[in-house]
Amino acid sequence: MAKRRPLSDKRRPIQRKVSTPIMPHAKPRLVVIDTDPGIDDAIGILLALVAPEFSIAGITTVAGNIGIGTTTRNAGRLLAFAGRDDIPVFTGAAVPLSRPGPEPLNLHGVDGIGGVPLPPPARGPEAAPAVEWLAELLLKEPAGTIDILALGPLTNLAQLVLDHPDAAQRVGRIIAMGGAIHERGNVGPRSEFNLWADPEAAATVVASGLPLVLVPLDVTRRVRASREFTETLSKSGKPAAAMVAHLIESYFEAATHQESRPLHDPCVMLYALAPELFRIEELRLSVDVGNAENAGALTVDANGFPVQVALGVDAPAVLDLLSRQLIAH
Ligand code: BDR
Ligand code: CA
Repeated sequence: MAKRRPLSDKRRPIQRKVSTPIMPHAKPRLVVIDTDPGIDDAIGILLALVAPEFSIAGITTVAGNIGIGTTTRNAGRLLAFAGRDDIPVFTGAAVPLSRPGPEPLNLHGVDGIGGVPLPPPARGPEAAPAVEWLAELLLKEPAGTIDILALGPLTNLAQLVLDHPDAAQRVGRIIAMGGAIHERGNVGPRSEFNLWADPEAAATVVASGLPLVLVPLDVTRRVRASREFTETLSKSGKPAAAMVAHLIESYFEAATHQESRPLHDPCVMLYALAPELFRIEELRLSVDVGNAENAGALTVDANGFPVQVALGVDAPAVLDLLSRQLIAH
């Protein structure tokens, strides 16, 4: 198995600082969060829970950062912390679509969230399997009204495409953290973890023709939390902000000699909240479904499938948006 590379790349020059106003949409956008929490998943989920722009229909879980039992429990623990056990959790794929699951890397600690104390789930996961529930929801709600915020391997979404194509066609859009375009990978030389963990699933979603915005390492490595950032959150005294600070601090502990850590998964929520802070290019992409070190790697390929890819970000502005959302609510 390929070893994960350290996420220690240097910060790029700071871009223009814009203060994006927090302007709730007239009506919150209905979203499903598909996730493998995961420290950075947890931060993204907390952001989605506080932001009035989102209405979370449910959380579907997938194995990734850690096994399915733990990712599902962590989703429930985050909801219990936020007092939002009205939001249902659905257990998703325990293994990739068509290959054995990788050995757990336990990069986010043995509990998947860096040992940060969270209450136990207030209620267990629902009996319905994640993909069945998601298909039913998509068929019930008006077409195009549900966005999927995908923070982990794409196994559940590939199963939706393969087993429920009529429901899948009704997705508003998928915004997914995954891949590396011009950046080096974080698992293999060109492989990013979420796509590496299930390359066939990634290839299925990329080829599906569904509206897909991919947020790769090229962007997420620019959006970095510093110790100064966590101090601001801690000092606010707001529970979600303080919990995010705690999660980021545990993320610091997982790496030595780091001055900042990339906030991969929250970039999905931040893109949904403020797309004008990102630069999007349409690229034709193919996914490496081999077994070698570049499993799951993306290639820009004339015969590939068109995908909207975030390739630039106003990092100071999205960090400012993240902290203001957490502190405001
Ligand atoms: C992605 O891999 C996971 O470890 C993170 O949660 C994120 O989704 C970054 O490559
Ligand atoms: Ca994740």
